[in-house]
Amino acid sequence: MAKIKKSYFCQNCGSQSAQWVGKCPSCSEWNTFVEEVIAKSDKKLFSTGPTTKIISKPVAIAEVSDEKHNRIIFADPELNRVLGGGLVHGSLVLFGGEPGIGKSTLMLQMALQHSKARVLYVSGEESMKQVKMRADRIGKTSPNCFLLNETKLQHIFSHIEELQPHILIVDSIQTLHSEYLDSSPGSISQIRECTGDLMKFAKETQTSVFIIGHITKDGSIAGPKVLEHMVDTVLQFEGDRNHIYRLLRTTKNRFGSTNELGIYEMQTSGLVPVENPTDVLLNNSDEQLSGVAIASTMEGMRPMLVEVQALVSTAAYGNPQRTTTGFDTKRLNMLLAVLEKRCGFKLGAKDVFLNITGGIKVSDPAIDLAVVCAVLSSNVDMPSGKEIVLAAEVGLTGEIRPVPHIDQRIMEAQKLGFEKMVISKYNKGIKQKDFDIELVQVGKIEEVFKHLFGGSN
Ligand code: TYD
Ligand code: MG
Repeated sequence: MAKIKKSYFCQNCGSQSAQWVGKCPSCSEWNTFVEEVIAKSDKKLFSTGPTTKIISKPVAIAEVSDEKHNRIIFADPELNRVLGGGLVHGSLVLFGGEPGIGKSTLMLQMALQHSKARVLYVSGEESMKQVKMRADRIGKTSPNCFLLNETKLQHIFSHIEELQPHILIVDSIQTLHSEYLDSSPGSISQIRECTGDLMKFAKETQTSVFIIGHITKDGSIAGPKVLEHMVDTVLQFEGDRNHIYRLLRTTKNRFGSTNELGIYEMQTSGLVPVENPTDVLLNNSDEQLSGVAIASTMEGMRPMLVEVQALVSTAAYGNPQRTTTGFDTKRLNMLLAVLEKRCGFKLGAKDVFLNITGGIKVSDPAIDLAVVCAVLSSNVDMPSGKEIVLAAEVGLTGEIRPVPHIDQRIMEAQKLGFEKMVISKYNKGIKQKDFDIELVQVGKIEEVFKHLFGGSN
């Protein structure tokens, strides 16, 4: 039996101390230290049969085989993209997201679609029947997808030894527990220990492992931050549960860029990749409506057009309301103050409601100009034109500032058949002759207003 040693851990940040302390020296929280039993031993915590012999040896860098050949390519293009072009053998991926967002659905769907690889889906949260019901809903089956209802890590490893899967999915890390520790499942030391063992297992056997993790209210993956340092890739599944779109982001990737983004639509039969997000995010009606502007935003490295809708009405009560969906309310207040100061619009006595359609959240400052135009368009009750795309940041002095990747944004608007694009005149190296779409290059907010609404107040 392993030599047992005790230590104290902060339940908030995972910091370790040999003695009990009232205030955590690392995160300054009070009464968070809990005694936990840690196992320190030379003994292996898992056995994986013949692979326990020493297989590592030093290799010259030039002789290391090209990693591209070693990736597992899925049928799902969005998942391949966020992983940096497929799943690397022996990698450990942490997949986080709020409860009910669709993490289990995406993983099961991946397992069922990729019938070439043997996949073991370990569920500690749902019974086999429940997982099967989900598979029926997705409408797919695969002879190579195996289910296991188990929460004890050592038992999982012994099943793996028999089955020898290519991909292991653990749903979720918070339900796992190692028998070498007395602390309960979900505690920081259990999460860290189980992840550490899964990491060793992934590297030694070259099996790819997906770990599903719940996220806390503040958006971080529950358990210590240390978990994110241990794994190779961290994927986050986001979205508004009341809307059908889900965004898959990479927040860390040792084998690719973290700028990639995948978009899915949650349908009654599972998650469907959205290859052309602009098509679904824009309202296709031909009607010219006031209070609508089209913005060009970048989500990761993908240009995307979104519709901004504003409604400006006379405030019924003393305090005007500012309500936003998918956009920062403070930023809206700032833009309204700029309009008030620079263009003389009396928006102080008006309620302003702002909505980004499709239920997505945008934080790219390039949307500023579209927000301003939608507000102005609703205020004067004149359409700003559905064939115009806007992409610029608005500064405090009312200047129209340039935004990065402007050529990609212009190409996207041109590809989708828009006629005109309003951008900052300070974007360097942008010439009208290089593009078919008409470019309106402006330097001040007043110029945009004149251009779109003919200068009338
Ligand atoms: P789930 O994968 O269980 O979420 P998580 O594992 O992140 O907690 O997703 C559950 C939600 O997805 C649930 O509200 C029902 C919905 N759903 C669909 O809309 N369509 C489907 O085909 C499936 C399987 C689930
Ligand atoms: Mg789940």
